[in-house]
Amino acid sequence: MLGIERPIVQGPFGGAYSTTRLAAAVSNSGGLGSFGMHRLSPSEILETASSIRKLTSRPFGLNLWVSNHDEGGAHPSREALLRMRDALRPYYTELGIDPPEPESKTVFDFEEQARAIIEARPAVFSFIFGIPSRDIIAACKRAGIIMAASATTVDEARALEQAGVDVIVASGSEAGGHRPSFLASAEDSLTGTMSLTPQVAGAVEIPVIAAGGIADARGVAAAMALGAQAAQIGTAFLACEESGAPALHRDLLFDPAAHRTALSRVYTGRLARAVFNRLPNDLRGAPLLPYPAQLWTMSPLHEAALQKGRADLMSLWSGQSASLLRHRTVESLMATLP
Ligand SMILES: Cc1cc2nc3c(=O)[nH]c(=O)nc-3n(C[C@H](O)[C@H](O)[C@H](O)COP(=O)(O)O)c2cc1C
Repeated sequence: MLGIERPIVQGPFGGAYSTTRLAAAVSNSGGLGSFGMHRLSPSEILETASSIRKLTSRPFGLNLWVSNHDEGGAHPSREALLRMRDALRPYYTELGIDPPEPESKTVFDFEEQARAIIEARPAVFSFIFGIPSRDIIAACKRAGIIMAASATTVDEARALEQAGVDVIVASGSEAGGHRPSFLASAEDSLTGTMSLTPQVAGAVEIPVIAAGGIADARGVAAAMALGAQAAQIGTAFLACEESGAPALHRDLLFDPAAHRTALSRVYTGRLARAVFNRLPNDLRGAPLLPYPAQLWTMSPLHEAALQKGRADLMSLWSGQSASLLRHRTVESLMATLP
């Protein structure tokens, strides 16, 4: 269905964590490379898709967020941004820099981004955080693009199937990055991959890809035994040198520090899993901004901490299986997978 030779999907990464090189390397080795595009404009989407095409003639997937802002999160007041920035002032003082002026960024219209994806005609259009409009779904079907969508509960999987989606990505709570829940709250949708995969496979007729905590051949075999047709792997690809993660982040995934992760809203305003460090600990219970305003106030701190080599003040996305990681290139990781 996806036109791939091996049951391996590279999990798409939003922000600057996807690269054309990573997506192409996975596709060229027989899996499905992916590129997370929710922070790209329609023209950047088209340019990036054509850059991937220069590196591979195999199928690949492009990914968006259907819901890309929470109420009040796209146009926060300057006062709200300043309040959050000031709450982070002690960290800036510690890093020896002045806190930057808070900045709002552009939130792109999902429909316009989705039109660009359809124009780019990838083999697969994957999305999280909701269900696209009937028009977008119909346009994908006309263009012959396979739609793969993430579900964190059986109810979400059923709703996606009913809407006409072709493949469900059953996203267990072990996974790195955001919990892409859209029916119930993310906090109430934390079923693990071991439990979620067979439940989703039993509830829908369409194929299921398991995601979350899969980092080696045993995990892939387990996913298939539980009723999935393929495994979506994120953190193990994020740790490869082809990914867009900074070297400090990639190296840390191989460090015992990454054995402990936590789900927190502090980094972006939405619940996401990262290596446990001072930020989710210190800011526990603090008033946070909605997504993506919270991300906009945290990003400058992340960048400053990265410049100073301070992993304790960065957002270090990771799933729960970092301690299983052994490979630093796509070639060496893929050589160990089915
Ligand atoms: C840094 C990072 C960014 C991610 N961004 C996205 C995204 O934009 N869209 C998406 O569908 N999944 C995203 N994910 C989820 C992955 O595609 C994948 O499903 C998940 O990492 C699988 O769990 P694992 O990390 O335990 O392997 C992201 C994961 C990470 C670690």
